[in-house]
Amino acid sequence: MYKRIGIITGGGDAPGLNAVIRAVVKTAVCEHAMEVIGVEDGFEGLLGETRTRELTFADVRGLLPRGGTILGTRNRGKFSAPAGADKSSLDDVYREAIENVERLGIEGLIVVGGEGTLGLAAQFDRLGLPVMGVPKTIDNDLACTELTFGFATALDIATEALDRLHTTAESHDRVMILEVMGRHTGWIALHSGIAGGADVILIPEIGFSMESVAEKVTSRDQSGSNFSIIVVAEGATEVGHEQIYQDKGDAYHAARLGGIGVYCRVKLEELTGKETRCVVLGHLQRGGRPNAFDRMLATNFGACAVRAFAKGEHGVMVALQAADVVTVPISEAIANTKIVPPNGQLVQTARDTGISFGSPQEAKCHLQAEPLDVFTSIQCKG
Ligand code: F6P
Repeated sequence: MYKRIGIITGGGDAPGLNAVIRAVVKTAVCEHAMEVIGVEDGFEGLLGETRTRELTFADVRGLLPRGGTILGTRNRGKFSAPAGADKSSLDDVYREAIENVERLGIEGLIVVGGEGTLGLAAQFDRLGLPVMGVPKTIDNDLACTELTFGFATALDIATEALDRLHTTAESHDRVMILEVMGRHTGWIALHSGIAGGADVILIPEIGFSMESVAEKVTSRDQSGSNFSIIVVAEGATEVGHEQIYQDKGDAYHAARLGGIGVYCRVKLEELTGKETRCVVLGHLQRGGRPNAFDRMLATNFGACAVRAFAKGEHGVMVALQAADVVTVPISEAIANTKIVPPNGQLVQTARDTGISFGSPQEAKCHLQAEPLDVFTSIQCKG
């Protein structure tokens, strides 16, 4: 049984990180008589002079509703190899971190992060430092877990934005486009688009054509609905085009998607002649208080992570499966990105309720007055 464990938060912040820290400290200290050392600024805090501090009950008081992470977080940094460089160039960095961990008397690490951070965690575990992963990301794109904490709060924020865009769109007879995050997956766009009653949802998993989107907008106008709401995931791509980036990134900085909303706005105005506006929701989806579900999930993940660690498990990640928290190998969770199944139930439900995904095949459907079911797995509503 460990006497002293560390906790690290890495990658982009997500609502619920502090709730995990609180649950880990309470469970480890109270139930297992462990000391908990908080590592600041992700794995970077284990290098050089190190930046760590003991976390006590007093440190986690009032943390449940607080956004961000009291430990700070970092993307990539010194743990990424420069482009083209051999991964072994990082051996010294890992060695330095592990020596520092040993010097600090930390026997195991709880690592809260997304795919990138958990990849580093798995490497530490392979090198002999026992690691327990906790899945975090607003994108909900980690495999092996039905949900990650942070996603539900991002969804609430995106849905509220869509509700608000509805009234202004309707008043001005405009098209309003909401660009949401999600990296290479469309979970936030799909869920919020359904919850917020969007007319068009554009996601990376389903290529779209601007003509099809324009036809959907025009067909709504023709039927007397003179406004339209479009939610577009930052990674969505027009067929035959490339994803749009704000910044292509480098070895030390992750690439940043963004710009597809404005692209759609310009093209849609050209094609329909209709006044169109674009709102980029950005980091509002990540900042601030976690909602009730994320507080609960983050707390359950944190407590279960300590219990599994205390039982001797390591190299695994806590995961939500069929409403229960289980553990799965970190290597499996990061092997593939969890994408929206393009022919899955939720996409079908969206289509059945009149939402367009802008796919080129749908274009013809918008022009039909009556429902058709001519195209494979696409139900068209007039
Ligand atoms: O992975 C979380 C996320 O918010 C993505 O949805 C988004 O693409 C990215 O991080 C933004 O990163 P940054 O905070 O570096 O701008």
